[in-house]
Amino acid sequence: MAESAREIRTVGVIGAGTMGRGIAQVAAQSGYRVRLIDIDSAALERGVAGIEKGLARLVKKERISAEDSAAARARIETGSELQALADADLVVEAVVERFAVKKQVFEQLDEICPAHAILASNTSSISITKLAAVTQRPGQVIGMHFMNPVPVMKLVEIIRGLATEQRVYDAVEAASRTMGKAPVEVHDSPGFVSNRVLMPMINEAVFCLFEGVGEAEAIDQVMKLGMNHPMGPLALADLIGLDVCLDILRVLEEGFGDPKYRPCPLLVKMVDAGYLGRKSGRGFYEYSSN
Ligand code: CAA
Repeated sequence: MAESAREIRTVGVIGAGTMGRGIAQVAAQSGYRVRLIDIDSAALERGVAGIEKGLARLVKKERISAEDSAAARARIETGSELQALADADLVVEAVVERFAVKKQVFEQLDEICPAHAILASNTSSISITKLAAVTQRPGQVIGMHFMNPVPVMKLVEIIRGLATEQRVYDAVEAASRTMGKAPVEVHDSPGFVSNRVLMPMINEAVFCLFEGVGEAEAIDQVMKLGMNHPMGPLALADLIGLDVCLDILRVLEEGFGDPKYRPCPLLVKMVDAGYLGRKSGRGFYEYSSN
């Protein structure tokens, strides 16, 4: 076991997609030095543009000063190689929701990162215990599950793997608070709490559409006006990404072996068609710009 947790100064974020860029932005705004890594240079460019837009929005609303925005931007370095994380204290992985891809990232991080570094995953449903087991430091692997849109949502669901050490949990909880988030502790189980509860609701909404129980707008209005949800489940699925929803449902279905998590055939068909929600311009709704 490595020495007791050091102060976290440098945070690595892997993956410049929607979640990675949001995490990089809030970490930089909170004073951390950030290394945002993506193997795809176009994705990295889009990620940085998104962060700059997010910071500009906050300046315009007078939530932060132009100086603070410039300082946050200056704290973010970008790169395409994991080698840039050789001095990271905390790494948050936010790559695609596929175990094989994450496994490879964690194996490499374990070799590259310093012995004291904490390796966190922003996974929405993959087992932290299983990811930890591919490293030589399972006690320093943990789940740090941010919600979309990251700059707005308060929650970080912190997931303890079977081997996660208490000092590692404490360090990640403190870092989440430093980032202005409200950490909630959960244990490792398929979908954790957030997606075990959310995804069956979204899937049921898709079944309602599939079976003609209601139009998309009607289904969403019921949940918005009747249950005070900020957006309806189908609009939320579009925000999350239909491919991500499908991946999570499959993790739940396989993890529990329970047919109640069976993805609605309409969801499968839409993903097959490339209707992935906001990011592709079309999901349950159409989006003119994405
Ligand atoms: N980035 C930064 N800020 C954003 C944003 C974004 N992408 N989208 C909206 N905002 C900000 C707006 O600027 C606005 O800020 P102010 O209040 O300071 O003016 C605020 O959020 C509200 O936005 P809007 O007025 O434009 O719209 P809204 O009131 O409909 O809120 C919303 C938008 C915050 C997304 C709201 O609809 C909402 O909370 N939806 C539910 C989101 C949710 O459930 N997220 C969790 C998804 S599950 C997940 O992420 C985990 C997983 O594993 C799948």
